[in-house]
This record gives sequence, C-alpha cells and structure tokens, in this order.
Amino acid sequence: MIKVPKNKEENNFMVLVSAKEMIEKAHEGHYAIPAFNTNNLEWTKCILTACEQAKSPVIIQASEGAAKYMGGYKMVVDMVADLHDSMQITVPVALHLDHGTYEGAKACIEAGFTSVMFDGSHYDIDENIAKSKDIIALAHSKGVSVECEVGGIGGVEDGVASNGELADPAECKAVADLGVDFLACGIGNIHGKYPENWAGLSFDRLNEINEAVDGKPLVLHGGSGIPFDQTSKAITMGVSKINVNTELQLVFADATRKYVEAGKDLEGKGYDPRKLLKPGCDAIIAKAIELCEAFGSAGKA
Ligand code: 13P
Repeated sequence: MIKVPKNKEENNFMVLVSAKEMIEKAHEGHYAIPAFNTNNLEWTKCILTACEQAKSPVIIQASEGAAKYMGGYKMVVDMVADLHDSMQITVPVALHLDHGTYEGAKACIEAGFTSVMFDGSHYDIDENIAKSKDIIALAHSKGVSVECEVGGIGGVEDGVASNGELADPAECKAVADLGVDFLACGIGNIHGKYPENWAGLSFDRLNEINEAVDGKPLVLHGGSGIPFDQTSKAITMGVSKINVNTELQLVFADATRKYVEAGKDLEGKGYDPRKLLKPGCDAIIAKAIELCEAFGSAGKA
C-alpha cells in the first residue's frame, strides 16, 4: 500500500539522513551499522525491507560502477529516496558512495547522496590527505558525511586492485585529524570471497589504529564471510560500519540457480521476473537480517 502524505509533518518518513549520527551512536553503543551495497531496484527494496523488519539503521551504498549500471547518480538518489518514501521506511537510512574517486565524490554530493567515501588510498599519503581535505570541506558544507581510506584493502573491487593490507597507524591519525567522520583502514580484510588460508583480521593492528585515531569510528570493508566472533571483536575495538556486498550476491545467485535448476521457471508463469527473482530476493532479506543481528544493529532504530 502506498501512503500519500497529507502535509509536511506527515511527510517526515521521506528523508534520507547523513551517516554521521547513526555511526556515532553505534560507536558509543558498541555495535556496527551494516552498509549494504545495492545493485538494482530489487536489491534496494530487499535491503530496506530487511532493515525495517530488523529495526536497524542502515547505509545503502553504491560503487561508481554500480551507479553507472543503474543509470547514474541521480537515478540512484531518486530510486532510494522514492522507495524509502513509498515503502514508508521508518528506520534511519543513509545513501553513501562506496570507494569514490575525487570527481565521483563531488558529483554524488551534488546529486543528493547523504554520505560519500573518498578513496585516496592509491595516492601517496600527501596527495590522499590534500584530496581528502577538499572532499571533507565540500561534503560538510552540505551536511554530507565522509569516509576516507588509508592503506588500501586487499582484493579487487570494480576493477580497482589494492595490495596494501595493513594500514599505517600514523597515516590513519593524519587523515582522522582532518575531521573525517569515519575511516576505512586495512587490517587484513579483503573484498570478495576470503581464501581458505586467510590469516584473519589483525587485531594487533586494529588496536594500534584505534589508539592512534583517538575514538574516530572505523570502517571494516570486505565484511562478507568474516566469522562473527571476529566482527564482534572488531566492533569492541572501534569498528562501527561494516561493508557487505559479495555475501548478498552469493545468496541471491545460489537461490536463483536452485529455482532454475529445479525447472521452476518452466512451470506456469515461473519465468515472470516477479517469480524468477523472488527466491533470490527472499535470500537477500534473510541474510541482511542475520547480519543486522550479528553486528548488533537490530533493534537500534
Ligand atoms: P565484500 O564484497 O567483500 O562484502 O566487500 C564489500 C565492501 O567492502 C564494499 O566497499
């Protein structure tokens, strides 16, 4: 059912928020906000459905590549804002650019994203600092929250590879001191599937970084498939945002494959996208709720 608001007061469910406040609350309360990457309309609906059901604040994020796939930054802003409105979402929702370039972050601030990441980790630290500073000033002048990155995150995302795995605490401090709202740093985490022989998160390095940045909320990228005892420990050491992309893609693909392999698309109108995509969507919702519970954000909205 779509509710048509009668006046401005009734309309207050229509607003996307910056991620600053929800992350600061999570940092104080020792839980983490899930930051789920979206890929399309279905993904966005599933993420919103799951977080409304779990009563969890949420960050919906899009990489530049995913935004291009969906039709551009404005399209993403309109889609998320309109779904938020027509689904009458009551939990806080931020729309965030994931791994933004300098130009991409500026374009998203302009287009109406409420949060952006500027990933300058592939520049030398001086250039990363100079560019991060520009984006922080621009974003804050419009009430938009900012994430920056130090040290690179292993794995490949959107064709951008990074070999850096453990961020330098002194560099983290230098970027934290610029007034960034939350900081991504490599602590042995990687994007995509974790290899069998993955060594796990480096809690020694996380501890050093957490002490160096003096209470700045930290972001854990590559949140898919990290054992929950490790994510929980990371949360006690300053991690307040956990990014998840691959895991939702895997459960969607798995459920869709099973539907097709069972020949269900050939039964009746099983080929209708509303039927064909339903098992995958249900799987995304179930996994997202499980992650809200594991990260401690369920019930916090
Ligand atoms: P995964 O795809 O490994 O979950 O990583 C997501 C991420 O960190 C987005 O920035």
